[in-house]
Amino acid sequence: MRASFLTSLAMARIAVGGVINHSLPELNNLSSLYTLTAYTLNDCTHNGLKVNNLNLFQAKVGQYCPFTGNQSYFCPNGTDMAFGGTLTPIVLVPGGQDLYVNVDGTIAITVQHSHSIPPGAWWNYYGWTWTALPVIQSPLHDCPLNNPEYNCEPPTGFWNFQAPNAMVGGVKACPNKYQPSVTSLYAVTPDFNRTDCIGLAGLGTHNYTGPSPPVWAY
Ligand SMILES: *[C@@H]1O[C@H](CO)[C@@H](O)[C@H](O)[C@H]1NC(C)=O
Ligand SMILES: *[C@@H]1O[C@H](CO)[C@@H](O)[C@H](O)[C@H]1NC(C)=O
Ligand SMILES: *[C@@H]1O[C@H](CO)[C@@H](O)[C@H](O)[C@H]1NC(C)=O
Ligand SMILES: *[C@@H]1O[C@H](CO)[C@@H](O)[C@H](O)[C@H]1NC(C)=O
Ligand SMILES: *[C@@H]1O[C@H](CO)[C@@H](O)[C@H](O)[C@H]1NC(C)=O
Ligand SMILES: *[C@@H]1O[C@H](CO)[C@@H](O)[C@H](O)[C@H]1NC(C)=O
Repeated sequence: MRASFLTSLAMARIAVGGVINHSLPELNNLSSLYTLTAYTLNDCTHNGLKVNNLNLFQAKVGQYCPFTGNQSYFCPNGTDMAFGGTLTPIVLVPGGQDLYVNVDGTIAITVQHSHSIPPGAWWNYYGWTWTALPVIQSPLHDCPLNNPEYNCEPPTGFWNFQAPNAMVGGVKACPNKYQPSVTSLYAVTPDFNRTDCIGLAGLGTHNYTGPSPPVWAY
């Protein structure tokens, strides 16, 4: 209700009497492949950090390439993790891979040739909602343009998470469960109980223009 009200308000401001007012920002849509960044307000350290392999502070995507010998001959050379639709990972592996949220809030991707997820986990098409942001030309405020861990382009919109029927939701950045020196993304689920995390406003989306698919598998 609120979303459709805001959308129609924005549309009314953009198109006056059926004529597009080009001096106002138009809303984006999610029709292209996209990369993700941490989206936060008033937190310059985390805003704009690229999401690669579902981690922050990681400039380049790491891929699983199953071939021996000259791997760059067989596997794509993308540098960013890319998605399409509702957080569907873009990969070369036959059958693809799926993103899911575990009961404890960890976000994960299925292994190659498997489409099974743990009991109680949510497939990508449960719980995630995307909100469009107006088209803005200027880079993010105070974003370190020369640091490859960041993408300072303004996001086209952002994803947020709330499990079906849950009273809580959100996205956070926390020390990885297995490798505490790595900062990983978490979704706030009813059983999420970490207290050592940074809250994010969501996961920013940015049009992806690199090699597609970028990797054989994540
Ligand atoms: C178009 O947007 C600009 C900038 O907000 C505003 O000044 C102008 O009045 C708008 N034009 C119309 C016809 O609404
Ligand atoms: C998305 O936006 C582009 C350009 O603004 C437009 O051509 C396209 O039709 C839009 N797609 C949808 C699904 O609205
Ligand atoms: C992103 O891609 C869509 C679809 O191709 C296009 O309509 C839109 O203008 C692009 N946005 C930016 C910020 O490049
Ligand atoms: C590996 O394959 C790439 C892409 O075909 C090629 O550019 C490169 O020279 C090869 N490297 C070796 C060591 O054969
Ligand atoms: C990836 O490989 C393609 C084709 O060989 C090449 O044109 C492109 O520059 C490479 N990109 C990167 C990021 O290495
Ligand atoms: C947090 O939840 C996990 C299960 O996801 C449980 O093993 C752990 O004991 C809980 N920790 C606290 C402090 O409640």
